[in-house]
Amino acid sequence: MKKYFTQKPIVYISAAILFCFPLSKSVAQDKTETAKMNAFVNGLMKKMTVDEKIGQLNLVTGGMAITGSVTNNGIGDGVKKGSIGGIFGLYGTESVRKMQEAAVKGSRLHIPLIFGLDVIHGHRTIFPIPLGMSATWDLGIIEHAAHIAAKEATAEGLNWVFSPMVDIARDARWGRISEGSGEDPYLGGKVAAAMVRGYQGTSLKNADAVMACVKHFALYGAAEAGREYNTVDMSKVAMYNYYLPPYKAALDAGAGSFMSSFNVVDGVPATTNKWLLTDLLRKQWGFKGFVVSDYTSLNETVDHGMGNLQTVSALALKAGLDMDMVGEGFLKTLKTSLQQGKVTQADIDLACRRVLEAKYKLGLFDNPYKSLDPQREKTEIMTDANRKSARVTAEHSFVLLKNANQILPLKKSGGSIALVGPLADNKRDMLGTWVIGGEWEKSISVIEGIKHIVGDNVKINYAKGSNITDDTAFMKRLNFGPGMVSLDKQSPADMIEDAVKAAKKSDIIVAVVGESQSMSGESSSRSDISIPESQQLMLKALAKLGKPIVIVLFNGRPLTLTWENENAAAILDVWAPGTEAGNAIAEVLFGNYNPSGKLTTTFPRSVGQIPLYYNHLNTGRPYSSGPTKFKSNYLDISNDPLYPFGYGLSYSSFSYSNLKLSKTKLKGNETLTATVTVTNNGPYTGEEVVQLYIGDPAASISRPVKELKDFKKVNLQIGEKMDVTFNITPKQLKFYNSQLKYDWEPGEFIIQVGTNSADTKAARVQWVK
Ligand code: NOJ
Repeated sequence: MKKYFTQKPIVYISAAILFCFPLSKSVAQDKTETAKMNAFVNGLMKKMTVDEKIGQLNLVTGGMAITGSVTNNGIGDGVKKGSIGGIFGLYGTESVRKMQEAAVKGSRLHIPLIFGLDVIHGHRTIFPIPLGMSATWDLGIIEHAAHIAAKEATAEGLNWVFSPMVDIARDARWGRISEGSGEDPYLGGKVAAAMVRGYQGTSLKNADAVMACVKHFALYGAAEAGREYNTVDMSKVAMYNYYLPPYKAALDAGAGSFMSSFNVVDGVPATTNKWLLTDLLRKQWGFKGFVVSDYTSLNETVDHGMGNLQTVSALALKAGLDMDMVGEGFLKTLKTSLQQGKVTQADIDLACRRVLEAKYKLGLFDNPYKSLDPQREKTEIMTDANRKSARVTAEHSFVLLKNANQILPLKKSGGSIALVGPLADNKRDMLGTWVIGGEWEKSISVIEGIKHIVGDNVKINYAKGSNITDDTAFMKRLNFGPGMVSLDKQSPADMIEDAVKAAKKSDIIVAVVGESQSMSGESSSRSDISIPESQQLMLKALAKLGKPIVIVLFNGRPLTLTWENENAAAILDVWAPGTEAGNAIAEVLFGNYNPSGKLTTTFPRSVGQIPLYYNHLNTGRPYSSGPTKFKSNYLDISNDPLYPFGYGLSYSSFSYSNLKLSKTKLKGNETLTATVTVTNNGPYTGEEVVQLYIGDPAASISRPVKELKDFKKVNLQIGEKMDVTFNITPKQLKFYNSQLKYDWEPGEFIIQVGTNSADTKAARVQWVK
């Protein structure tokens, strides 16, 4: 019997304990600190000219992260003049120090700069893309990953990361689904909070803490038709119940800053939306930090139809925007607007104060060079320990979608494997989207990872088999940077022929296929979310041989995999696993780690089903089975997803039995306990994510058929039975009604516990007030 390395999570439990404790500060201490900060900022602001105040609201790009058509020039001079408050897209202690010195030594008031970057899933050591990370359902792992990212980022001069991205997404066409935690508000909120804790640590003043920037506020994930930067339109009930909770959870975890989104919210661009940035964020939710625009999102409100640059800049400031990223709308127009009475001195002061407060909270006034220790830069980046954490996180993020006849895990010795596909001997595409500090040359390819595990004990017959895509027009769009996707010198037919030859010599085929790095992420919407045709042709040629095919799937979004599900023996979804990709994949393929990831986003059968998500409303004509006419369904396809939210297999198998409720009639603030017995019936030790869903079938507004309310990841030895208990209180029954009042309504509730959203045991309770 193989020994499984199931003890690894313990590393994270201890890490989680280390990082989870909130600051146990007294209210009195907090008050003193706030008073000190206010006195300091007041004193400083008294000395500042209007230009210097406006300068604090200006965030420029240092050039290492350009995601729009505008860039900034003459940064050094601007810093000395006091017309720049922060720089993003610049890192490395040498370059950052130059700029910080220009600010601290060269500017009149010596105000330090804040240095930000898109550190999204690791800085130098790249972890799985956030969608993959969320599939771990392991908050300790996620928090630890964010902490390592913060350590590496601060070792290179950074104080601020544009993460977590907490946009709920129900549309797999949208490439940025890869950057978030999927479709569920509850899980999304938990992940968001874990990331904020990981980044900010116990105090922002710590040398290894960065300020989090929660994005994209708000609703960016609901872009119509999954088209990037597109319009969003939704009811307030949908906003409050399904889209806003993760932003709020990140705020409650102490996030220091927010980023406004590109889209409109209720018809008004987020960046100039007073309701959003002031009424909701600050007045209703009590946010005390600062809000930065997205990259030129302020200028883009001109195209949204809000007026010229001066008008929109005044609107945005009055709406509650504090810092303007790249577009210089504030810098160029606010003084004129002040002179013309379109904004007030108080408006400018408020925004300036918030930016200065952030710098104060980060300890930059005490030590502007706190993240500029060249020694740390040498010793704390890409360490063995960081790489190990990245590998273990990746292993936990993989989702086993199919495993017919227990074809996986593979044997570590004997026999032969045809290793094929354009992602098998590939380093560049291991990292996924948003890897500004990531060096793909240092990532581990799948073939390298496999060789590390099996050495010469298994014969590996490698063939590339296909290009990532043969479609040159598509390729041009993918290649926004040099050398991303290219055509092989061999013809597609010859490549397939080579793959077939390799497969003929082998017992089993491992096909490493899917999306390349630039197929998902920002500005990477797709209308066809299948594996590119070139790769499908290779898979289809291989399938004719009748040998088992194991697909190792790279993807930044759910893909349509109907053919693959029918024709492959196994599918292991590895997302984009990061620096340690190949090692993590090999550990799982050969059974050193038993997969435990679960989907956090529904996989549709076809693009035509989108948006498809588990927590949908019932409709007045729900379809379950039988005749289809005049029911809510399609003529040509089932309503069901290919793989539902929460789904993921293990090399072992878990059964659920005996769902017991402590009561079936409850009143008021009682606690209900739901206990289910989970048994590991399979031949391996493994982890299972036990999921609690609740349905509210009769209420004042139509409620989702079910909603995730809790989950527990448990580790079960072979043959072990475990009672898993959830405590349920009325808090978990609450929702926003049509008056946006947050409360629960008495009546019947359906308590469901299971292995995924579509496979649960259910029991009903009556709960009165
Ligand atoms: C645009 C993206 O929408 C945002 O997520 C990112 O943080 C900024 N560019 C800065 O790179």
